Amino acid sequence: ASIPTIFQPLTIRNVTLKNRIVVSPMCMYSAESNPSSPALGAMSDYHLAHLGHLALKGAGLVFTEAMAVQPNGRISPNDLGLWQHDEGSESVQFKELKRVVDFAHSQGARIGVQLGHAGRKSSMAAPWLAAASGTTNLRADADVYGWPDNVVAPTGGAEMIWKRPSTENGLDGFHTPRTLSVSEIKDLVSAFAASAATAVKAGVDVLEIHAAHGYLLNQFLSPVTNRRTDEYGGSYENRTRVLRETISAVRGAIPDSVPLFLRVSGTEWLDESAVAQQVGGSWGVDSTVRLAKELQDLGVDLIDVSSGGNHETQKIKFSKTYQTAIAAQVRKELRAAGRKTLVGAVGFITEPSQAKDLVQGAEQSDDVVDVKAEAKAVEGLVSGPEPDADCVFVAREFLRDPAWVFTVAKELGVKITYPIQFARAF
Ligand code: FNR
Repeated sequence: ASIPTIFQPLTIRNVTLKNRIVVSPMCMYSAESNPSSPALGAMSDYHLAHLGHLALKGAGLVFTEAMAVQPNGRISPNDLGLWQHDEGSESVQFKELKRVVDFAHSQGARIGVQLGHAGRKSSMAAPWLAAASGTTNLRADADVYGWPDNVVAPTGGAEMIWKRPSTENGLDGFHTPRTLSVSEIKDLVSAFAASAATAVKAGVDVLEIHAAHGYLLNQFLSPVTNRRTDEYGGSYENRTRVLRETISAVRGAIPDSVPLFLRVSGTEWLDESAVAQQVGGSWGVDSTVRLAKELQDLGVDLIDVSSGGNHETQKIKFSKTYQTAIAAQVRKELRAAGRKTLVGAVGFITEPSQAKDLVQGAEQSDDVVDVKAEAKAVEGLVSGPEPDADCVFVAREFLRDPAWVFTVAKELGVKITYPIQFARAF
């Protein structure tokens, strides 16, 4: 029988993933937070163990959590960062990342770094600290190494605070952001490029720019959070400018051989919201499709389609396929426009058969090895009636079952290569 597409390799530029299963980025809020420590924002034994055990267990690609390109780009003081680019002497952030990357490579895994800046959603406490205080979001103030006065956004001010329904206890809700100047926007773009170059120097295989979930680049994309009247706000062209500049700068800072992914919120779920009416629109699937078509020329290899997170009045229409359906639509429109950009699906992917079906071209026979289809699959061009996505990003299921790739292989009856040390179990 032919191997289901999910377990076929996928080559993107010079990097071959052994299967189409990607560990989606997940913040662990477990890095050093004390600014006077040289290990600020650096990976530790925790990250080696956490990412290392995922690398041992068969995913084609393991992403780190979002690593901040600037200190005030961390969601919490305990986030990872990659803003130290010391020439000559190697920084702790670099060395600790390299340790994890080297371990992943020693296990035949590929490792990706997601680069981000949290913008107006930064300087918040880890979720469990918030929960312990009886709120959904606890602001991190200076006493716990937060940066309440340096929370930035495309447009600042009290009106631009991410609000929460209950603000009575004074703990809920986010900090008041301040407006980024044009020169700070240029610095942000350079910071993404510098972090990308440092990641590649550490041996990272794939980079992803985080422009989803209401973080800074997402805030620029949406007219709801971007009220600027300069060249970075207003029209679609202007709102996407900082993202295009970031992509170009990152692409220019890394070798052609390194794949570049982009995570977006396919929609911010504000179609019928009051705020969208007030500002004359929101970021929806149509905007995502328009952007997706531009990505190939910008040097982005894969669009990773998530959704939501940019405004508190979002109305998410949850279902098992609520998000993967958007990925499928984006992929369909890309192919109809003759674009080769790969598409990643994410969200509620927990069942082996679901993961298999998302990336399986319908024409592929189960018992005939289709050499042509396999060759195309390796190029990332899957044959026949189109699958919904080219790979699946899975987050929470890997927390519940770190060996989920083994679970999928077992359920689908596919023989995969297990780590030699595990051989007696299989
Ligand atoms: C996340 N998610 C996330 N997304 C992202 O782009 N960067 C990040 O750093 C994080 N951090 C994070 C932490 C934790 C604990 C969770 C559970 C999630 C979102 C994640 O990558 C994924 O998109 C969603 O969780 C939906 O996928 P699942 O969990 O349904 O497979």
